[in-house]
Amino acid sequence: MLVQSPIMISDTQPTQGRLICVSNRLPVTIRISPDQPDTVIPSAGGLVTALAPVLRARKGHWIGWAGNVAADADRVSAALVEFSKDAGFDLTQVILPKDDVEGFYLGYTNRIIWPLFHDLQSRCNFDPSYWEASQRVETTFATVLSNLVNSEDLIWVHDYHLLGLGAKLQAKGVLNRCAFFLHIPFPAPDIFLKLPWRNEVLSELLAYDLIGFQTERDRRNFLTCLDEVLHKKSTINGSLATVPLVSVQHNEKTVKVGYYPISIDYNEFSELAALPEVKQRAIEVGEAMKVAHLVISVDRLDYTKGIPHRIRAVARMLELFPELIEQIAFIQIVVPSREDVTEYRDLRAEIEQLVTKTNGAYAKPGWTPVHHFFRSITREELVAYYAAAEIALVTPLKDGMNLVAKEFCASRPSSDGVLVLSEFAGAASEFFEPALLVNPYDIDGVARALADAVRMPPEERGRRMGLLQSQIRKYDVHHWANAFLLDAGWKGLSTAQQSNGSTIWERLRRALSVFDA
Ligand code: ADP
Ligand code: G6P
Repeated sequence: MLVQSPIMISDTQPTQGRLICVSNRLPVTIRISPDQPDTVIPSAGGLVTALAPVLRARKGHWIGWAGNVAADADRVSAALVEFSKDAGFDLTQVILPKDDVEGFYLGYTNRIIWPLFHDLQSRCNFDPSYWEASQRVETTFATVLSNLVNSEDLIWVHDYHLLGLGAKLQAKGVLNRCAFFLHIPFPAPDIFLKLPWRNEVLSELLAYDLIGFQTERDRRNFLTCLDEVLHKKSTINGSLATVPLVSVQHNEKTVKVGYYPISIDYNEFSELAALPEVKQRAIEVGEAMKVAHLVISVDRLDYTKGIPHRIRAVARMLELFPELIEQIAFIQIVVPSREDVTEYRDLRAEIEQLVTKTNGAYAKPGWTPVHHFFRSITREELVAYYAAAEIALVTPLKDGMNLVAKEFCASRPSSDGVLVLSEFAGAASEFFEPALLVNPYDIDGVARALADAVRMPPEERGRRMGLLQSQIRKYDVHHWANAFLLDAGWKGLSTAQQSNGSTIWERLRRALSVFDA
């Protein structure tokens, strides 16, 4: 079943063609209940944080699912119309029947691709009905797009849910330029090869004109899988690690493959941090905690984020460094996510148990070591917490990028503070020097790194945080989008956006003199 309800807010479109972004989830989820008013809930996660300012600045069009089933389509449409009035971009919902939500979203994406691509193959269930549902849903997305695009529009598909959408569009005769960006890691061949549909996934990916990954390692994994599974070699003129774009020939077409570390809207966070009310809130948070050292972690509820390992590391730090008892407090903010998936409910219970255990072992009158918030908070409140804390503990077991690491640095009122970062977050490929890198599985190592962060001399902190901030400010989310869109051949970029997007690649190209577009 296919229902399409486009919401066209703006009829002024650039002559160069629109920017049409497609992701499984829209930036808002509309909650419908029979006897309550509809609620519009901001969707959680890094994809939405990153894409919203990009679409707003370029007056783009966002196509995706609003988190509902087909029966609620009309009410969802009405709620989206209201939302899009202030959003700064157009929205079109893709409506899915209940069976496809189960087979595709709960099955294919949450029980196959997400765990597999995060190296957790033991959590996968390779049920063929999940794969079949994914094929139906990608075709549904392709039908919605085919009814909506003009020939000059660039279609930019996002994330692991829609790996095969480019091929489904081709099958429908949609000949637009079509690019893809993967927000999560691409696994190494020995993990990827476990996917029963590995040939199909790789062949379908080659339908895109440009495929973008977060890091050079993700791209290397993809190219190695292409070679091993489809015996396709890429054309590289120079060292793979430093060449920004490589090409793969497929069906008489050249597919470009690049890597583009995603980022945040730096100014949005730093400007919020400078607001008097946010500064005041940060002071209140600091005073309420009554400790010399405040540590913060912020995550979507997910087993890839390593939250239980992290709480164990905090407990171990108190055991190894008892002088920090009553001197340090840890705030763990978790936004609810994927509540219909059993593993996520179990994880919540595990976290709550560990928090209780740690506090039971160490709390004293007037001092609690671990503070756990399980709810979504506003951007202002989030920035106040980042600003109040001295140390961010960002320790995912595996992460495509991790925007929280960047948000913490952008929200510092000054160049002070320490970022303790997992070496398995994509962000580590950019920040291996100024951050304190840790192995999140090494509980003692994380405990010691926390103690090192507390003891780090102020000049050293300032130097490291200054480096982090200037790097994130320069290579912000607009730079990321411009670099990608330039390589994707989107004609809607202004001259300033083109030159902003080309800085990093130009530097590499000039240094290596090996790039041949
Ligand atoms: P992922 O994409 O896996 O969720 P990221 O770290 O890249 O991981 O992005 C998470 C996003 O969710 C960040 O923009 C962060 O600010 C936001 N977020 C996390 N926890 C909360 C919360 N409790 N309230 C509001 N936003 C949150
Ligand atoms: C990560 C993914 C996004 C996804 C988000 C929330 O950030 O990269 O694509 O939207 O998690 O997950 P959900 O399953 O709620 O869409």
